[in-house]
Amino acid sequence: MRTQVGIVGAGPAGLLLSHLLHRCGIASVVLEARSRKYVEERIRAGVLEQGTVDLLNEAGVGARMRREGLMHHGIELRFGGRNHRIDFAELTGGHGVTVYGQHEVVKDLIAQRLADGGDLRFEAEDVSVHEFDGARPKIRFQHQGTAQELECDFIAGCDGFHGVCRPSIPADRIKTFDRIYPFAWLGILAKAAPSQDELIYANHPDGFALYSMRSPEITRLYLQCRPDEDLSQWSDERIWAALHKRLGDRADGWRLNEGPILQKSVTPMRSFVTEPMRYGRLFLAGDAAHIVPPTGAKGMNLAVADIRVLAEAFDAFYRLGSEEGFETYSETCLKRIWRMQRFSWWMTSMLHRFDDRSDFDQRVQLAELDYVTSSRAASESLAENYVGLMRR
Ligand code: FAD
Ligand code: DHB
Repeated sequence: MRTQVGIVGAGPAGLLLSHLLHRCGIASVVLEARSRKYVEERIRAGVLEQGTVDLLNEAGVGARMRREGLMHHGIELRFGGRNHRIDFAELTGGHGVTVYGQHEVVKDLIAQRLADGGDLRFEAEDVSVHEFDGARPKIRFQHQGTAQELECDFIAGCDGFHGVCRPSIPADRIKTFDRIYPFAWLGILAKAAPSQDELIYANHPDGFALYSMRSPEITRLYLQCRPDEDLSQWSDERIWAALHKRLGDRADGWRLNEGPILQKSVTPMRSFVTEPMRYGRLFLAGDAAHIVPPTGAKGMNLAVADIRVLAEAFDAFYRLGSEEGFETYSETCLKRIWRMQRFSWWMTSMLHRFDDRSDFDQRVQLAELDYVTSSRAASESLAENYVGLMRR
């Protein structure tokens, strides 16, 4: 079997790359370890920057997102019994973000690839990548009980943080940067109407909490918890009690709506970057190359930004024979990645409870929140990073 670009992973990065390549007349095969149902139901990110929305629209896969996505022009920060709105529209000249679940983006991309006759292989087992330091890379895998080999011009490693592509690069040819946080997020999806339109990021003495949503009927909520948290210790009652306490039912009557909990999960928090994001004819993109803690809502947006650059590089190569896009791919992406690493780390540090912090550190954290919510310059900095104004 042969193709031009072999793609490992059918998350947002791999599917979007396959779709953009198809629009440039470049063939690809996507190999995914999980089932279609699993990837379509995997609940993760929810906040799309305008650049992500624009790319999905330009690529012709934005119709349902335009209908069902919720446009947000601000967020609320709650801390020390106070409540402060960061007005993105006012601070950034009208910009905002769109709340639309990552799994909906994945569903839209899968439907489009299949409608265009795309080759997506779900439940591909034992995927391994070979000979990408030469001109004829190969991907070996098992599919429906048969061993297969896919020969390709290039391999795109879009297989997430726990994938096989990054570890296949000789360890002395890449450098990784890593930071593990001493907490995780317990996330729930609840069948409850959102109690307000905008997201709430809360810093509370018990730990961070985040109020978000997916639709007019579904609320998405997160609680800071221990990294080794045992979900069985979190009954629905305990979760709601912690959410009410940390988000703080307000004197003006605001109160978090409750409803049946549809899904619970624990997400560890990590910052991670691989440099460079290319080795020979293997390119890493998205979570395969970098991870951010979710506080800044940047992970999927960074994956999409990588793919925009990578798809352009492939287009220039196949149309014009130019390898310049390949040479600059890593550097171009890393500039944005490090900016967003800084922002995600900063949001995480400002909003979470750190058990090992001194009283001094805790006062400095509150002073930071006070500054961000009272200085226009500081609010503007948060707003422009959150909506993702950075161009290349
Ligand atoms: P993934 O989505 O991880 O896709 C990789 C794919 O590769 C998967 O389908 C996996 O099954 C497959 N795979 C893995 N190994 C193999 C293998 N060996 N062979 C074949 N296939 C393989 N980001 C935002 O932008 N905004 C947010 O609001 C946000 N919130 C988040 C909240 C949570 C709780 C979490 C967990 C993440 C959040 N993120 C957010 C981050 C975002 O979900 C990720 O950054 C995004 O999924 C990255 O996409 P990807 O395609 O690179 O990787
Ligand atoms: C959501 C996730 C995030 O990480 C974030 O910062 C905001 C919202 C969400 O899942 O809705």
